Amino acid sequence: MKVEVRQSELPAADAALTIVGIYEGESVPFAIADAPGAADAKGTFKTLSAVFPAGRGRVLVVGLGEREDADAERLRVAAAVAAQEAVRLEASSLAWALPELGDDDVTAEALVTGTILGTYRFDRFRGSDPEEPQPPQLKSLTLLAPASVEAAAETARICAEAQNRARDLQSTPANFATPAFLAARAEEIATAADGVTVEVLGREEIVAKGMGGLAAVALGGPEDPRLIVLRYSGGGNGPTLGLVGKGVTFDTGGISLKPGAGMQEMKFDMSGGAAVLEAVAAIAELALPIELIAVVPSTENMPSGTAVKPGDVITQYNGRTVEVNNTDAEGRLILADALAYAVELGAERIVDIATLTGAVVIALGSTFAAVISNDDELAAEVIGAGESSGELTWRLPLHPEFKAMMKGTVADLSNLASKREAGSITAASFLEEFVDDTPWAHVDIAGTAWDVGREYTGKEASGYGVRLLVELARRQAG
Ligand code: BES
Ligand code: ZN
Ligand code: ZN
Repeated sequence: MKVEVRQSELPAADAALTIVGIYEGESVPFAIADAPGAADAKGTFKTLSAVFPAGRGRVLVVGLGEREDADAERLRVAAAVAAQEAVRLEASSLAWALPELGDDDVTAEALVTGTILGTYRFDRFRGSDPEEPQPPQLKSLTLLAPASVEAAAETARICAEAQNRARDLQSTPANFATPAFLAARAEEIATAADGVTVEVLGREEIVAKGMGGLAAVALGGPEDPRLIVLRYSGGGNGPTLGLVGKGVTFDTGGISLKPGAGMQEMKFDMSGGAAVLEAVAAIAELALPIELIAVVPSTENMPSGTAVKPGDVITQYNGRTVEVNNTDAEGRLILADALAYAVELGAERIVDIATLTGAVVIALGSTFAAVISNDDELAAEVIGAGESSGELTWRLPLHPEFKAMMKGTVADLSNLASKREAGSITAASFLEEFVDDTPWAHVDIAGTAWDVGREYTGKEASGYGVRLLVELARRQAG
């Protein structure tokens, strides 16, 4: 979507539709106050009213709710609701009169983000039915605002479009979105951006390097696994940031097969990997002055005669042996290799992001992702980045008692805890074995990656994590 910043009268002359936000109990701006409909416009949160300034275009008024409740998140929601109505009205260009919120940059970010994310659709497999008309597309957004918000608007556009690309990857079915497909996307990112290089390992190299977790999960199917490494060098003198994303392109559970109902959604088990890939693309596009290493281990998890079996013992990249007591706990096996590899490659602080446990959905729903970390400072940064982007997180603790639950009977570790309780934490305790003492934060997005149902993230792929990771990189860049 094209995003511009311009100062202009109301309504904007060259936009198909101008959007004006008003707070509860307040009236529309003076310039359109005498137009038909203006007197009835309501400030109630998310309420839409049409105003018709004769011969001067169309205005849509959206309620922003109580002024004292206003924040970036409510503005993203209001922007999405208004933009969705604009699409329904078949407007291809929008102008937004910047409402007052205190900080114009924050306001601009919220409007751009809400508009771009709120009008997202996954259309790749539509359009072949001549009976079903092509949905109208919103092509441009103009902020009627001072030029000082230009940089904030452009950053928001880059981040929101990256998030929508991650949603495309999440939604693409597993017969298209294979490990090779994710690797091809990583190669595209490296080709398109300055300062990004890519390295991709296939099955033989994964086995040869001793990445026993990724190799074991990939045994079940013919689809070749990939270990994807993207490096971005933007300079700066901060520590090298490591990003690791789970890239299971389909999770059947393997021999510990999942129930059939709802299994189609397990194409989204690469959501962490998608968030990492597109966050790297955005970080490079923003030319942030940081050093970055991203690792995405990618494979299917399939049952077959060659699949890894419950009880099998594998050796991870760092030499630890693991009993695979449940083949559906595959994410931690591939992340273990990737985390150890990221440490070896020089990552000095690591964030991993993964649709790792059903337990996190029970604990925190679709509203919060879990953050589990061995480092208070990094955890606070991740939580803070999410607060500002609207991707909420909640920290859960580590404790030696949880670590004890991950001991194996014949090997060093088991991938299945000795008790079911605290499932998200025991999974993270397993991962902690592979980061040495590197500051590390794990973000479990099993509940927030899909079907969040917030106005701008929709009912399916949410792209959760992209803006959070970019914001984290921005904070590190200073
Ligand atoms: N990909 C799943 C996690 C998941 C479950 C995401 C439900 C979204 C909804 C993961 O690989 C998995 O299956 N985890 C198991 C672990 C268990 C066997 C210890 C789980 O959470 O049930
Ligand atoms: Zn699984
Ligand atoms: Zn999984």
